[in-house]
Amino acid sequence: MQKTKATQNPGVSRAKAKILLVDDDQNIIEVMKMRLELLGYQVIETTDPVDALKLFSTNSDIELLITDQRMEKLSGKELMEKCLEINPYLQTIIFTAYGTIDQAVEAIRAGAFSYVTKPVDHQELEIKIEQALEKRMLLRKVHDFEGLLEGQHDFAGIIGKSPKMRSVFKQILQVAPTDITVSIFGESGTGKELVARAIHLHSNRSKGPFVAVNCAAIPETMLEDELFGHVRGAFTSAVTSKNGVFASADRGTLFLDEVGEMAESMQAKLLRVIETGEVKPLGSDRIRKVDVRLIVATKRDLKEMVTKGTFREDLFYRIHVVPLIMPPLRERKEDIPILFSHFLAPALKKMNKQINWIDEDVIEALKRYHWPGNVRELENLVDFLVATSQGEVIDKDLLASTPLADFYSTCTIKPLKEARFVFTKKYLEDLLRFTRGNISAAAKYAGYYRADLYKLIEKHGLNPSEFRKKGRKISTADLKTL
Ligand SMILES: Nc1ncnc2c1ncn2[C@@H]1O[C@H](COP(=O)(O)OP(=O)(O)OP(=O)(O)O)[C@@H](O)[C@H]1O
Ligand SMILES: [Mg+2]
Repeated sequence: MQKTKATQNPGVSRAKAKILLVDDDQNIIEVMKMRLELLGYQVIETTDPVDALKLFSTNSDIELLITDQRMEKLSGKELMEKCLEINPYLQTIIFTAYGTIDQAVEAIRAGAFSYVTKPVDHQELEIKIEQALEKRMLLRKVHDFEGLLEGQHDFAGIIGKSPKMRSVFKQILQVAPTDITVSIFGESGTGKELVARAIHLHSNRSKGPFVAVNCAAIPETMLEDELFGHVRGAFTSAVTSKNGVFASADRGTLFLDEVGEMAESMQAKLLRVIETGEVKPLGSDRIRKVDVRLIVATKRDLKEMVTKGTFREDLFYRIHVVPLIMPPLRERKEDIPILFSHFLAPALKKMNKQINWIDEDVIEALKRYHWPGNVRELENLVDFLVATSQGEVIDKDLLASTPLADFYSTCTIKPLKEARFVFTKKYLEDLLRFTRGNISAAAKYAGYYRADLYKLIEKHGLNPSEFRKKGRKISTADLKTL
């Protein structure tokens, strides 16, 4: 799937983009420069990375750096990092040797757009150059639109105004126009599927299909059929042929949810499809090319699974190119009120109710609670509150039977008179237990007259004789009867 057709954007002319080309092999430089110039790019080239840095600082219109990773004075990644300090919008493509994918992934984490393994496949490189320049242009747009995003609380149906969610919106805009595999991590109910859809909507594939598959919901034996399809007669019940989801998502986006639950045999098959862009339906000996952009999601820690040997390392590197982490709701509580109101309107409509007020203590409880089920839990709670409310108000009493019962501030604060009674009773119980119900001794400890203490004990509904019994020995055989 890496070798899909380059994304076309007729509104953008990149013909004159300036590229800095760095490789310590003069032959590679010559061939590459010639090809790039034929495509209309302006090329500045050098075999010396230190010289490259000087060229970069004096040519502020360089938009793309194409560099070898292994060079003597400075590695490609180091060169890129120094250039990024000068211009954070620079895009970089790094050449890596076959089998050094870990270095390539490291470079991408440090800010490179992509990598190409040597010997260079020119067609692949040209597609990546186009994509990198498109991203460069988009970054500029994102920068221009940042001001707009500031006040925006709804991004393709994803609600949020917290800095963490604004950063998610920005990442969506950045990755959407590329064909790079995105892996979305996050707890249940944080909106991973919503984000996958938003990436599709903002991509050049938005007119194509968006197909979602939950790998955890399909039995291991049926997943292969679901993903790749089958031909008629492939197995006993295969009376007709069936397209798999890879074929259904052709020219669109395939969202593989819960990818961490995939059995190891399927992981190997998925890796092969990602690498070749080809699928083979069950029972068929013909392969089919597919042009699919892949987005995966998981709640699991894939890195830890790789360490434990339950997730393939090579597949991990293939899908972990651009990780996008969804923050749990407890880390962005400023989003709760707008999410609440977002879910309130459809709930009122659905249940044909009118609610105009909400108790302040309810809001307080919503903010104090830790939301293990994240946004989905909030959505369900809104439905519950609307369904159980009587009048025009969402009252805090409605929370009594929910996990939020302990989170509204007034519930633990009792009137002083009541609190004093509870405290005194507990004190008297301790005192009587300690003195084994001996009132004279208890009065001495409490600093009270015997008669006054007796009255106080009675007032609190306690019986001193009950405490006299305590301290007697109990047969271990009677333990069970207690
Ligand atoms: N920021 C948000 N704005 C509006 N709705 C949201 C937001 N986040 C989640 N939701 C809603 O919450 C519900 C759960 O979202 P989604 O299915 O995307 O979560 P998920 O992370 O994929 O969960 P799971 O891991 O359980 O599959 C959906 O109904 C979705 O519409
Ligand atoms: Mg999901």
